[in-house]
Amino acid sequence: MKYIIGNWKANKSRVEVDEWFRTFADLFEKNKSVKLDNLEVVVCPPFIYLEQSANLCKKYKLPMKLGVQNVSPFANGPFTGEVTASQVAQFAQYVLIGHSERRSNFNEKDNILAKKVEAAKKANLQPIYCVPDENTSIPTGVSLVAYEPVWAIGGGQTDTPENASRVAASIKAKQQVRIIIYGGSVKPENVASFLETHNLDGVLPGGASLDPTQFWQIIFNAASI
Ligand code: PGA
Repeated sequence: MKYIIGNWKANKSRVEVDEWFRTFADLFEKNKSVKLDNLEVVVCPPFIYLEQSANLCKKYKLPMKLGVQNVSPFANGPFTGEVTASQVAQFAQYVLIGHSERRSNFNEKDNILAKKVEAAKKANLQPIYCVPDENTSIPTGVSLVAYEPVWAIGGGQTDTPENASRVAASIKAKQQVRIIIYGGSVKPENVASFLETHNLDGVLPGGASLDPTQFWQIIFNAASI
């Protein structure tokens, strides 16, 4: 099983979300013969579009799951502005935790990230735990890790597939992690080079997932391996 997980970050309007799904569904329909059985396709929209995205997945019968980009370390209660794991679990199956943009812009540290993992697991959400290198600690119980070197995010420059695969092997050897995906400027033209390596189980495209045609092309190329 290979994971293709799109991270929209803080982008899109309500109308643009409708358009994204309409275009994606059209491509999906036109390429019905492409076998997606070996792929787990996930899109992570902003919280505010989660229900809309869930309804559109249903409407177009897309073989796609949803994730979110962050979650509260707290359970439901007096935590103004937070979105809790049990709320998210009504619509989504996955949650990104510890993305480098959260670590750097919101000062999220290991102790808070461990609480987020715990909260996610309690609500049956699968954490996608993001780390910038092989030495970053990973909370126990995490089985899906995204290796995302900070310098490769958003810039168009990727790590080499060989090094990403080496880092994945090192993380798998040290921790009880089963699945490692790579993120950092993944595009339709480079996705195969990562998926063909020995130790990578998927990819996490950000920028390329904003365009439904590019995201479909990533899926199509992954399905053709
Ligand atoms: P990018 O983002 O594909 O735009 O580099 C990846 C990520 O930050 O998850």
